[in-house]
Amino acid sequence: MPSASPNSPPEWVILRELLENESGFVSGSRLAAKLGVSRVAVWQQMEKLRAQGFAFKAVRSRGYQLAGRPTTLNAALIAAHLASRARGLQIVCLNEVDSTNDEAARLLATGRTAPFVVLARRQTRGRGRLGRVWHSPDNGNLYISFAFRPRLTPERMQMFTLWMGVNVCELVANFCGAQPGLKWPNDLLFDGRKAGGMLTEARIDADQIRDLVFGLGLNVNSPANAWPGDLARRAISLSEHVGTPLDLNRFTAALIGRVLLAYERFIDGDYLTVFAELWQRYDVLRGKPIAVLEGSERHAGTALGIGEEGSLLIRDERGRTHRFRAGEVTLEKEK
Ligand code: BTN
Repeated sequence: MPSASPNSPPEWVILRELLENESGFVSGSRLAAKLGVSRVAVWQQMEKLRAQGFAFKAVRSRGYQLAGRPTTLNAALIAAHLASRARGLQIVCLNEVDSTNDEAARLLATGRTAPFVVLARRQTRGRGRLGRVWHSPDNGNLYISFAFRPRLTPERMQMFTLWMGVNVCELVANFCGAQPGLKWPNDLLFDGRKAGGMLTEARIDADQIRDLVFGLGLNVNSPANAWPGDLARRAISLSEHVGTPLDLNRFTAALIGRVLLAYERFIDGDYLTVFAELWQRYDVLRGKPIAVLEGSERHAGTALGIGEEGSLLIRDERGRTHRFRAGEVTLEKEK
């Protein structure tokens, strides 16, 4: 096989051409002309793609058609699906990693240009809030971390995870045609069962955020019978909820686009009106009896919503309002 030319187009460029003409064929010479490389270079890239699980139908005098694609996470396919504003984003796609949040932090520490995204098919030490384990087998779910260098004060970041949460809900609602709920501060739910969780971690220099990792675990395609132990009762995947598997790579590309746009809006500071509207739409706690576990203390009351800095407000039975910056929330039975 000829050696790879330094001018070869990235594989995703070929995939995008084929995806844009999915029902027809794209000739080899058109691909070569469009990408500004030789037909040999195009062919080399298609060989690389075949090795990743893509199949191409080739018909003499007509050209190529995309005939099969991997259903597992694939960086080239995600890049091909990305909307134009997100093209060029670095996507690190791994078979296995300890935690995508940890990998993103390590890459940030080496000075890698942000933003970038780290994805893995499975995590060996997936982490949730409060030191919990995030069950992360290779089963069609999404483990993804976004790395940023926001250069803002920590106070300016207080609403970050909630803002990202409503954006993820909106994306899921648009993509799946189903209405998820957001349980303060970081859980995405369907019918009271957890479909996703977010973990934001930042390193702070003096009074500025040096870098920030936004991690998201989303149960996309895992089958209902795959949850171990009591997760079967508490967890749910998007495919289980909508009754059909999702196109994981297309979904991931849409999610990346949404998160990047949400990040830009957040940095501009131009997000509070939209946030208030989306929070009303997705908040599952408002008006409900809840309990907040803060360390070993349990506080019961009715959820009132959130304060300006993103804290949870509850009213206890004596009519006093309490504010929580952190804690574990459970929904109580309505009396
Ligand atoms: C939670 O609900 O407590 C948050 C869960 C966050 C899990 C994601 S999976 C991708 C990223 N890597 C991790 O180790 N954790 C986050």
